[in-house]
Amino acid sequence: MAAFRKIGVLTSGGDAPGMNACVKAVVNRALEMGIEVVGVNGGYKGLIDGDLMPMTQQSVGGTMGLGGTLLYSSRCPEFKTEEGMAAAVATCRANNIDALVCIGGDGTFRGATDMTRRGIPSIGLPGTIDNDITATDYTIGLDTSINTTVQMIDNLRDTCESHERLNVVEVMGRDCGQIALYTAIASGAVAVAIPEVPFDEKATLEKIKALRAAGKRGMIVVVSEGMRNPDDSAYSETLRKRITEQTGVETKFARFAHVVRGGRPTMKDRTIAAEMAVKAVELLVNGKSNVVMCELDGKVVPVDIQFALIADRMYKNKLKPGDLDAFTAEQIEDMKALAQKRREEIANLYSVAQNVAF
Ligand code: F6P
Repeated sequence: MAAFRKIGVLTSGGDAPGMNACVKAVVNRALEMGIEVVGVNGGYKGLIDGDLMPMTQQSVGGTMGLGGTLLYSSRCPEFKTEEGMAAAVATCRANNIDALVCIGGDGTFRGATDMTRRGIPSIGLPGTIDNDITATDYTIGLDTSINTTVQMIDNLRDTCESHERLNVVEVMGRDCGQIALYTAIASGAVAVAIPEVPFDEKATLEKIKALRAAGKRGMIVVVSEGMRNPDDSAYSETLRKRITEQTGVETKFARFAHVVRGGRPTMKDRTIAAEMAVKAVELLVNGKSNVVMCELDGKVVPVDIQFALIADRMYKNKLKPGDLDAFTAEQIEDMKALAQKRREEIANLYSVAQNVAF
């Protein structure tokens, strides 16, 4: 039925809940279509080293709800070199791997486009808790990570309430404040600090004093890890110190870090993972590659990887000279619209967080 006889699947970069659901769906859909699947262990590093294993329906049985990635993951600087990429292509050729499904973030997509350019058609799936890929409304793992942060803060709140304390909580997200915003709204935080919006520390300290004076016992302040001091140290810890010193409210600190990247994926992460994975396999079989599967306005659609990577740079103000040269005026307008959509999402969530923060 298909020109492809065998595809490889890998997970790369930071792991995310739902990656196993992706892999399972890739394997089952491909096998169903008569295509063999090999799992690549440890992301692009495994591709360079030829660390492969045949995948069967049995090998992915019962894995839909497992956190982490059973294929393991890594960040692989070696893959960025010509030698690394040549070795990865050689592994594919030697093992008759005709195409790849690569699950991860923007670094993973750069790898997928490099492989496509070198003759191994590849498709990317967005797996990262950060939801920081401009081309897609949603990245697999976000929902699970927020549910974990909210549950943990619910626990913290109990003890804050008992002891009349405030807890500053730092959450992950790299340079994107989405995890912090959703967490703050869903956990009823009194303040949230994210890198995308200027933070009014003075007003926050005043608010905390006023809330305490009005009788509020337990309080939560959420800070995104992307909030840094000028020397790149964590602003969350600075803020905790200033709250203690300047409001007189006893303040504790918690950094959730990787604990919110693990755990069993939620229904949302499992279903979107499965849908994206199935569509990726079908597209590959139908001759389409060099795309990343995105959720846009409730639909899963393929977006050209190059477009996705440059749209991302545009949104993050990281465009380099010549980046837009290969795109039509219409595509550039589409990128601007996406960047605007992301800005509006952040602004909207921030405003909700502000309006419920009492
Ligand atoms: O991209 C996912 C993420 O968890 C970010 O939120 C965080 O900044 C980073 O990865 C941490 O990376 P590492 O697992 O390499 O410490």
